[in-house]
Amino acid sequence: MNPPRPHVAAALGALFSLLLPFAAPAATPAAAPAAHPPGAAIASAHALATDAGLDILREGGNAFDAAVAVSSVLSVVEPISSGLGGGGFFLLHDARTGKDTFLDAREMSPEAATPERYLDKDGNLDPDKSENGPWSAGLPGLPAALVELASKHGRLPLARSLAPAIRIAREGFPVYARLERGYASRREVMERYPGTRAVFLADGDPPKVGETLRQPELARTLELLAEKGFDGFYRGETARKLVASVNAEGGKWTAAELAAYHVREREPIRFRYRDWDITTAPPTSSGGVALAEILNIVSGWNLQELDAAHRTHLLVEAMRRAYRDRTIYLGDPDFTRVPVARLTSADYAAGLRATIHPDKATPSELLSGKPAPLEDDETTHFSIIDADGNIVSATQTVNLLYGSGLVAEGTGVLLNDEMDDFALKPGTPNAFGVMGFEANAPKPGKRMLSSMTPTIMASPSKVAVLGAPGGSRIITEVLLGILGYDAGLSAQEVAALPRIHHQWMPDVISAEKGALDADTVKALEAMGHTVNAAEGTWGNLQTVAWDRAAGTLEGGTDPRNPVGKAATLEATER
Ligand code: DON
Repeated sequence: MNPPRPHVAAALGALFSLLLPFAAPAATPAAAPAAHPPGAAIASAHALATDAGLDILREGGNAFDAAVAVSSVLSVVEPISSGLGGGGFFLLHDARTGKDTFLDAREMSPEAATPERYLDKDGNLDPDKSENGPWSAGLPGLPAALVELASKHGRLPLARSLAPAIRIAREGFPVYARLERGYASRREVMERYPGTRAVFLADGDPPKVGETLRQPELARTLELLAEKGFDGFYRGETARKLVASVNAEGGKWTAAELAAYHVREREPIRFRYRDWDITTAPPTSSGGVALAEILNIVSGWNLQELDAAHRTHLLVEAMRRAYRDRTIYLGDPDFTRVPVARLTSADYAAGLRATIHPDKATPSELLSGKPAPLEDDETTHFSIIDADGNIVSATQTVNLLYGSGLVAEGTGVLLNDEMDDFALKPGTPNAFGVMGFEANAPKPGKRMLSSMTPTIMASPSKVAVLGAPGGSRIITEVLLGILGYDAGLSAQEVAALPRIHHQWMPDVISAEKGALDADTVKALEAMGHTVNAAEGTWGNLQTVAWDRAAGTLEGGTDPRNPVGKAATLEATER
């Protein structure tokens, strides 16, 4: 656990209104910035994962080896959030070549998953099919990403970096409150499946805080991956069991399409915001395009001169426009032409900016989306910088809490329910209240649109790495994080920042309790905004930052998640 420093916690109520003015830009370094960090830093949503990554660095691994360890341990200890049965995005910076690489390990649609599969007898989207069980699962991508990270980017063998995950799967880890709570809310679905009961009811009862959760079959699956690489998961024993289990539950996967899974290497989105070069997630994520659009729009104003209500208003109007474009234009670029250059251009932002009234909300009029339900924060992000300056910003997921609820028998692998991220019925909101049309319609082998936004931001004096879970709210969490760093906040302050969000539909500003004061809410309402000013908390932001001017490293872990951990490692400890 890594709580915020006391003075930070105390200042949080007022911080949001202080943050949004985007205070002074990061200080110009007096001395030439250091070429290498003074050590390494890792922030993740579980201490066991952060510690595993640090151990791999101590053993001589680089940030990419550490990412294999962190990712695979998270897959074991956070089945609520991500796992071998899910997918993820890995944004990598190689310090030696200066190259940034984006690994798209998003799940792919099975061939049989046509839109009609997800409708009820009246033709409405049936969430029991899109969010639960065999039809909700896409073909997993995470194991392929681990193999690629180790073989193309790491220094250590895959087996060495997977060793901590294998050990923790076999020996177990202590059950924590979110895991227990999440199980209770998904219990009915999970207990439909024998493979799931074998893992979570091994001792006859659901997991409880204080107990140890052991996953021996998952340990064996990880061992096969360690021994045989890609073929250890996508062909042979594990693949056979995955296909058999999905099909036994009434779904339809084939061995051939599982064996054809591949990670896509894509060019990241890059743009500039004030002093910062931002490198972030391209489609199949909607995150980078939306971030660029929002920051390009707001960079046209001197926000520091405005009061909190007007700053919030302008930010929300920019969010509204970016989320509208997400709905219409974004999807898997292998299947649909995404106008990335236009959406991220300064001219396009200038056009949108001109449509924003300085003190009147633009109604989002169209279908009213159902409010985005956020029971808890599934999905998980981790950030790593090593002593050579290599960087990993990674977000991985099984989508909703405990994914599809279906553990493939004999594998310990809990399958995702990522199919719900497709626009299964055009114009109908998904579990996050976001919708889509043709660009994000399901097709065999297509990847469903994501909001995951692993990001790296660099100014002359600082490099920061950040990302978060939260479904459609991921993009605005990362946005506020970028603005926080720009305002000079520390990594821990950035992780703790109070949050606001607007996603075009539903046409409402969501705010964590304390994020907006009563006067600001009143002023926003007078401009025509609807404000939910006291929503529960959301998000689980994990970030690390290297101050090149000061020669220091720091990590920030979201205080909303008590089991996260940010830690640094002195270069001499390696
Ligand atoms: O890829 C996406 O955008 C979603 N599947 C992420 C899900 C998520 O963050 C769940 N957390 N609340």
